[in-house]
Amino acid sequence: MRNTILVMVGLVAIVSALSAQSTPQHPLPPPPPENVTSSAILVSDKEPGKRLIVEGRVFAPDGKTSVAGIYIYAYNTDAEGYYSATKTFYPPRITGYVKTDKDGRFQIRTIMPGRYPEMHVPAHIHFNIWGAGYPFQYAEEMRFEGDSYLTPEMIENDKKAGEFALIRPVTSGSDGALHCNVNLKLITRTNFPGELPDYLK
Ligand SMILES: [Fe+2]
Repeated sequence: MRNTILVMVGLVAIVSALSAQSTPQHPLPPPPPENVTSSAILVSDKEPGKRLIVEGRVFAPDGKTSVAGIYIYAYNTDAEGYYSATKTFYPPRITGYVKTDKDGRFQIRTIMPGRYPEMHVPAHIHFNIWGAGYPFQYAEEMRFEGDSYLTPEMIENDKKAGEFALIRPVTSGSDGALHCNVNLKLITRTNFPGELPDYLK
C-alpha cells in the first residue's frame, strides 16, 4: 500500500513537471529569409477572413528599453481555426517573419484568426522571438478583447501585465481593416525545452 502511494505521488510530480513546461508541442520556425524587414504580409488578398493589422513593439526584460533587430516569427490559424492547409494543426500556413526596427517596432498584416474547431480556446496569434543577444523564446499568445472563450480568470491575470497585457482591444479602421497593437517583453533565457537548431541560437 505504501509503495502504491509513493508511486502515485511520483506520477503526480512527473505530470506536474511536464505540464509546467512551455508549449513544447509548438513547432519551431524555419530559418529566417534574407532581408527580413519590420513589416510583413502574412496572407494573400484572396485569404478568407477579416483583415487584421497588428502594430507591435518589443522591449527588453526591464519593460522600458525597446530592442531593435529582434526576429519575430508570427503565425495564426485561418478563419476556420486551422493552422495547416490540410485542416490539421501543424505546420502553420499563415506565417511571416519580421525584424524590429530601430525603435523596436514591427507590423504584421494578417486576418483575424478563427478559433480552434470544437475547442474552447480563444483566438490568438503566436509570436516566436529572438535575436540581438536574446535566445529563442515563445512569447505568450496575443488574444482579443470580447472573445467569448476568454474566462474571467484569463482577463484578470492579463490585466496584471499592465502595458504588456496580451488580450488586446480591436478597432475598425477607415481602411476597412481591424487594428490592434501589442507590446512584447523579452526574457533572458529560452523557454524552449529541447536543443535548438543553430539558426535559433
Ligand atoms: Fe495556437
